[in-house]
Amino acid sequence: TTAIVITRLVSKSRSSQKSLERSLQEIEALKDQLRLVIDTIPVLVVVGRPDASLEFINRRWLEYLGLSSKEVEGWGWTAAIHPEDAQHFTTEWRLAMTSGKPFEQEARIRRADGEYRWFLHRGVPLRNEWGNIVRWYATSTDIEDRKRAEAALQEAQTELAHVTRVTTLGELAASIAHEVNQPLSGIVINGNACLRWLAFATPNLEEARQAVNRIVRDGKRAGEIIGRIRKLLRRTATQKERLDINDTVLEIAALAQGEVRRNKAALRMDLAPGLPPVLGDRVQLQQVLLNLIMNGIEAMNRVDDRPRELVIRTDLGETDQVRVAVQDSGIGLEPQHIEKIFDAFYTTKSGGMGMGLAISRSIVENHGGRLWAAPNNDSGATFLFTLLKHPSENR
Ligand SMILES: Nc1ncnc2c1ncn2[C@@H]1O[C@H](COP(=O)(O)OP(=O)(O)OP(=O)(O)O)[C@@H](O)[C@H]1O
Ligand SMILES: [Mg+2]
Repeated sequence: TTAIVITRLVSKSRSSQKSLERSLQEIEALKDQLRLVIDTIPVLVVVGRPDASLEFINRRWLEYLGLSSKEVEGWGWTAAIHPEDAQHFTTEWRLAMTSGKPFEQEARIRRADGEYRWFLHRGVPLRNEWGNIVRWYATSTDIEDRKRAEAALQEAQTELAHVTRVTTLGELAASIAHEVNQPLSGIVINGNACLRWLAFATPNLEEARQAVNRIVRDGKRAGEIIGRIRKLLRRTATQKERLDINDTVLEIAALAQGEVRRNKAALRMDLAPGLPPVLGDRVQLQQVLLNLIMNGIEAMNRVDDRPRELVIRTDLGETDQVRVAVQDSGIGLEPQHIEKIFDAFYTTKSGGMGMGLAISRSIVENHGGRLWAAPNNDSGATFLFTLLKHPSENR
C-alpha cells in the first residue's frame, strides 16, 4: 500500500524533484509515526496474510511473548496459545479465514515469564477492489482481570446459593426426618411380620416374601429421600443438562410435602404432559422451586379463613419456553412491593434473610429465563418462571 501511495505521489509531483523529495520525507515521517502508534497502543496487533500466516506483529506483542519476530513468523506464534484453547482457536481462526467473516475469540496466551493470560482476539479482513482478502488485521486485548472478576463472582454466587440451600434444608429438617421415619417404621413393622410368618411350624413363605418386598420398597424410598437431600447439600459448579421439568418438580415436591402438611396446607400439581425437555441445572432449579414453595407456605401461615392451597403448574410458554408457576392462597403482594421483593436482603419476616427470591432470580436468569410475581385475582400470589427448551428440541 505504501508503494501505491508513493507511485501516485510520484506521478503527481513529477513536476518538481524538490517537492518529490519533500513528499518522500513526509511519507517516511508518517510511516515512523504510524509504526510508533501501532507499537505503543495498549493492544496487541498483528497483521496476517490471507492464509492466516503472520506478516507483522507489533512490539507489545513481541514483548509480551518474549519472542523475536523471527520466532513468531508464519505459524510460530500459535505455540504460545494455551494447549486447552489452541485447537478451538485455530479451527475458528481458519474458519474465519475461509469464510472471510470477522473473527472474535477468547484464548489464553503465554507470557514471556510462562504465565497464561486471557485475551480477546478480534480479526477483520481487508479486501481489495475485487473483494479478495489481502490482509487480516487483528487485535488482542488482555481480559485476564475481567475473567478473574467474572470467575470470582460466579464462585461467590455458587457459594451463596449453597449456603442458603443448606439453610433452607435445615429449616426442613423436622419434616424431612418425619418423612424418612415413615418408611423406617414400615421396615420395622414388616420385619416383625416376616419373622412371625417364618416362626410358624410350616412357615408361610409367600406372606414372608411379600413382607420382605415391602421392606425393600420402604428401604428404597428412605434411600431416595436421603439421596435427594445429599444432592441438594452438595456444592457443585453449575451443571446444565437435559431435564424433564415435571420430574424435577415432582422430586422437590416430594421433599417439601412433609413441610406443606405440617403447615396444614395442601399441595396440588397441575403438570402439563409432553412438555419439551429444558436445559438446566437440576439442583439449582430445585432450589428455586423450594424457595418459592417455602415462601408460599410462609405466606399462608396466618391465613385461617380459606383453604391453604399451594399449586405447582407447568405448561408451555411462548416460543421456546417452558413455564413453571407456584401459586399460593396466602397474604398476597402489595403492588408497590412486587419488584422490591426480589432485592437481596428485602424481607418482611422476623427470621428471614431476604435472599430467597434474589438468588432464585439470578439462577433463573443464568438459565436464560425470567422470574416474576403476580397477585392472584382472589387472594394470594403466583410466582412464575420460564426456562428455555433444550436446544435439541428446536422443531
Ligand atoms: N408467596 C409470597 N406471598 C407474599 N409475599 C411474599 C411471597 N414470597 C415472598 N414474599 C415477600 O418477599 C419477601 C422476600 O422473599 P425472599 O424469599 O427473598 O426472602 P425471605 O423469604 O423473607 O427470606 P429467606 O431468605 O429466608 O427466603 C418476603 O419477606 C415476603 O415479604
Ligand atoms: Mg424466602
